[in-house]
Amino acid sequence: MKKLALAVALAVALPLTAQQELPVYLNEQKPLEERVEDALKRMTLREKINIIHAQSKFSAPGVPRLGIPELWCTDGPMGVRPEVMWDEWEQAKWTNDSCTAFPSLTCLAATWNPEMGQLYGKSIGAEARFRNKSVLLGPGVNIYRTPLCGRNFEYMGEDPYLASRMVVPYVQGVQSNGVSVCVKHFALNNNEINRHTSNPIVDDRTLYEIYLPAFKAAAVEGKAWSFMGGYNLFRGEHASYNPILMNQILKGEWKWDGAVISDWGAVHDTKTAVSGGLDMEFGSWTDGLSEGASNAYDNYWLATPYLKGIQDGTYSEDELNDKVRRVLRLTFRTAMDRNRPWGAMVSDAHKQACKTIGEEGVVLLRNEGSLLPIDLNKVKKIAVIGENAIKMMTVGGGSSSLKVKYEVTPLQGLKARIGNQAEIVYARGYVGDPTGEYNGVKTGQDLNDPRSAEELTAEAVEVAKHADIVLFFGGLNKSDHQDCEGTDRLTMDLPYNQNALIETLAAANPNLVVINISGTGVAMPWVNKVPSILQAWYLGNETGNTLASILMGDANPSGKLPYTYYASLEQCGAHKLGAYPGTKGVGALGEEVWDMPYNEGVFVGYRFTDKNKLKPTFPFGHGLSYTTFEYGKPTANSKTMNADGTLTVKVTVKNTGNRTGKEIVQLYIADKKASVARPVKELKGFQKITLAPGEEKEVSFTICKQALSFFDEAKHDWVAEPGKFEAIIAASATDIKGVVPFTLE
Ligand code: GLC
Repeated sequence: MKKLALAVALAVALPLTAQQELPVYLNEQKPLEERVEDALKRMTLREKINIIHAQSKFSAPGVPRLGIPELWCTDGPMGVRPEVMWDEWEQAKWTNDSCTAFPSLTCLAATWNPEMGQLYGKSIGAEARFRNKSVLLGPGVNIYRTPLCGRNFEYMGEDPYLASRMVVPYVQGVQSNGVSVCVKHFALNNNEINRHTSNPIVDDRTLYEIYLPAFKAAAVEGKAWSFMGGYNLFRGEHASYNPILMNQILKGEWKWDGAVISDWGAVHDTKTAVSGGLDMEFGSWTDGLSEGASNAYDNYWLATPYLKGIQDGTYSEDELNDKVRRVLRLTFRTAMDRNRPWGAMVSDAHKQACKTIGEEGVVLLRNEGSLLPIDLNKVKKIAVIGENAIKMMTVGGGSSSLKVKYEVTPLQGLKARIGNQAEIVYARGYVGDPTGEYNGVKTGQDLNDPRSAEELTAEAVEVAKHADIVLFFGGLNKSDHQDCEGTDRLTMDLPYNQNALIETLAAANPNLVVINISGTGVAMPWVNKVPSILQAWYLGNETGNTLASILMGDANPSGKLPYTYYASLEQCGAHKLGAYPGTKGVGALGEEVWDMPYNEGVFVGYRFTDKNKLKPTFPFGHGLSYTTFEYGKPTANSKTMNADGTLTVKVTVKNTGNRTGKEIVQLYIADKKASVARPVKELKGFQKITLAPGEEKEVSFTICKQALSFFDEAKHDWVAEPGKFEAIIAASATDIKGVVPFTLE
């Protein structure tokens, strides 16, 4: 209504002649495609070439002569990156670009709450809007195929259905600000090791069932206006201009009309970039280019070399016109939408969003006894131990690194929350990474500590011994090999000898809580010696307030794991079957290539541990609450899936504890007999419900045929084979509450 009202107002305001005089491409009353065609026919060849490649680190030139604005991009998926120099990665040292740092996307996935996706997207999009950016380079929805991937913290876990449900509202939220998302890294960028030369070898069924669904949901349901191609190859061709991924699937099968943007430096030649479905080239380091050279951008593969190729007849203008149409569409949807809201930066609403999402995403993995929530009637002395209790984490991790006005560390948050109600004593415990700087942004903290590990341990034990409860904040820290772009983890083990320290602390005081701050799973050999364990993510500005709120019980944890917490790499298909990091080979152009056959196929995450009857430390979908829930027996409205292809399964859930809580009810589907090897079960539904003490609610799932289907390579389509199925209601991948058999006729 608002847009219509405004359009009418404009129409009334503008005298008819003036409105008629507006060229079509500038007239917002005209249909988008008419505006695109009108702009296209007014552009010179040189202008068409200019608009499809960068003019600076993060901008493309638009068409100044026609008043078509520049297109400004910015990282990242968890907050708006601080401004860099025109042509450098280094800081521009602006003073107006401190942002809200929202929780990592794995935390968002761990909320299992699409409303949090919407809140997240709307909030971060408003900050990008306020900074006058048209494209936010996120979200990332690559799959958590291995716990070692350095960027798992930027993605939404191991399950395609969960990632699909969580990415759509994020996309819609961002784009409601007139800012485009740039869904990345399409596709199969599931590791950082050899990220420019990895060549995943994946069969179609695995591709369509595991690695495409979240991207497809973002493109088709979310209506994302731009995608980012990955660095890696796929079946021998670079992903950023891969004819299969970009032309056949994204723009063909999914009928997507957006613009494909390369990853920064992902373009390596002109010919395939022209024909492989790439629409905008950014960040290239092409031959004969010295980074930062003033004429760098003319040498881009889609710049002068492409222009020359058109002029000498090597290329027709057809591909160029399609690229230009997509860039114009992106521009009209963003920079040229005069009705866009104005956004906001570090508002109270955004700070609250950061905390709300964090509180919904923290996962209570274990809570034996009654350590949590902390009861200040009983607890008078709290030992806080670990570097991650004091280390700022909004800086670091690669391109998603941010500059913030403030960050509340866990220790600060606890002190603010507890005040003088109890004594808090801090001990460092270990020294991990005392630095705090990325691309010129510094935390300002000096975490240097000259003491030896022995001294640090001795101090920690001393502090722990005399406390009523010990809170150990450990985990990773977004430095190299510790959840950081460009590097994978080298092992699943906690770094800096934390395992030994945790064992020592457990011996010193059994009332130990481990708060693991990381974006990926870690090995927990001490899991049975630690009564309470929290999986806390990188939680942004409000880290300390969020964790204090959970630890003190102001918020009741309700997150569940978006990935399997393997006990070791042996439980992960990619490693067990020798499919990581692949084998070094030679590519078509004689370059180094790491062939990486995805031997595990569709058996990723719980699909692998189910099949091989493995017991992970904690299963996919696991998360506890400070209250308890009881499930009734699930029932179905029929024993067969009826003609119109739906079946309804219902289950009641009751809060049997003494405080309000949220439960995530999960629906898995099991195909009892198929012509292909299928996982034991697959997530096909979930609902997060809030229950007051004693309250009972009925949850209903309507299952459609798609939920029963697998991707048939021969038919190149989804197939649901008649036969026996089971609808499985569960609280996690191993906590099965009930099974309802049914038949597909
Ligand atoms: C980086 C990342 C990508 C980021 C881009 C711009 O290398 O792979 O996620 O958006 O370059 O910084």
